[in-house]
Amino acid sequence: MAQLISNSSRIVMWVVLCLMMWWLGLSAAAYNYNVMSYGAKADGKTECSRAFVKAWASACGSQRAATMYVPKGRFLIKAVQFSGPCRNRVTVQMDGTLVAPSNYWDMGNSGFWILFIKVTDLAVIGGTLDAKGPAFWACRRSGSTCPVGARSITFNWANNIVISGLTSINSQLSHLVINSCNNVLVRNVNLIAPDQSPNTDGIHVQSSTGITITGATLKTGDDCVSIGPGTKNMLMTNIKCGPGHGVSIGSLGKDLYENGVQNVTLTNAVFTGSDNGVRIKSWARPSKGYVSNIVFQNLIMNNVQNPIIIDQNYCPNNQGCPRQSSGVKISGVTYRNIKGSSATPEAVTFDCSRSNPCRGIRLQDIKLTFRNGPATSSCNNIGGTSIGVLIPRSCLRS
Ligand SMILES: *[C@@H]1O[C@H](CO)[C@@H](O)[C@H](O)[C@H]1NC(C)=O
Repeated sequence: MAQLISNSSRIVMWVVLCLMMWWLGLSAAAYNYNVMSYGAKADGKTECSRAFVKAWASACGSQRAATMYVPKGRFLIKAVQFSGPCRNRVTVQMDGTLVAPSNYWDMGNSGFWILFIKVTDLAVIGGTLDAKGPAFWACRRSGSTCPVGARSITFNWANNIVISGLTSINSQLSHLVINSCNNVLVRNVNLIAPDQSPNTDGIHVQSSTGITITGATLKTGDDCVSIGPGTKNMLMTNIKCGPGHGVSIGSLGKDLYENGVQNVTLTNAVFTGSDNGVRIKSWARPSKGYVSNIVFQNLIMNNVQNPIIIDQNYCPNNQGCPRQSSGVKISGVTYRNIKGSSATPEAVTFDCSRSNPCRGIRLQDIKLTFRNGPATSSCNNIGGTSIGVLIPRSCLRS
């Protein structure tokens, strides 16, 4: 009798164990949403937007942390929106490449290609984006009627975001846009478009707080990184920029009422053949905007047109700002340990606002040459201090 009981309890135990393992296996699988299961085809020809949006909806609605998975292959995607809020943390793991329609008109006129909106706790890992920019750029250059074009990947009103290992080539407009976000980490991204491709910013940030960009190769036709109004607490490290227009704060002060840019640090960056190194740029128009607490340090310039520049007299085609000066107040900008070569004689240009001179500009250990000799600098309406080795000679007191 005793033998019988222990035998049957052993069987029950096994059954329970097996049930548990089956359930665990099932649940692990259930939280991985592969776009192939939603009808995606990895042939680069079949339109997959609906499959992606469905897979996103499942991942985003999942009761547990979920992964939306894009396997190897090429996936044709039109403009898609991945909306939150989601029930849990979502990871979008991409081993494949997303390709835009060959006909740029098929992208629509939203201005976005891949758009994440109102998502919290999201990681986008890996992936390649090919926006097929060249045909669109050619349309713009030809002066014929073109659609508005699309930013390749955009995050709007998103918080706690990681973007890691993303590659983007030939964006129609900006590659990566971070707008009205908090706490975003951009890690090891490669954003590539040809020199002279119009408006292909690498990373554009605005109205956002707590942005870290670490490890980025940015080869573009416009700014490598452009920083717009309302950006606060931003750190950029290990950046390779060029070709492109450099790292730019601005253009600011186009509007009278505009949020400022504060606490931005760029450290450990190499600029190669870019139009600018580090630039702060504002319109010559009245504005309540400001720039404060900025650090540019440990930078190498290789044949850069304007390694260090503040331009507060921006007024393209002299339209909309006649005889005006910039209202943007620039203060507390440190340039430290910046070395290398300028492609023009004037390596340092401070052209600050007549009505709002730059204050608290600090220069320390600058060595910029032009054709193996010292480069020059020019200053308008600037105050601050300088220490250490300074080539070109600084116009600030030491
Ligand atoms: C400045 O920004 C960094 C992030 O880049 C942050 O760690 C730091 O706390 C900020 N400083 C202030 C005074 O807000």
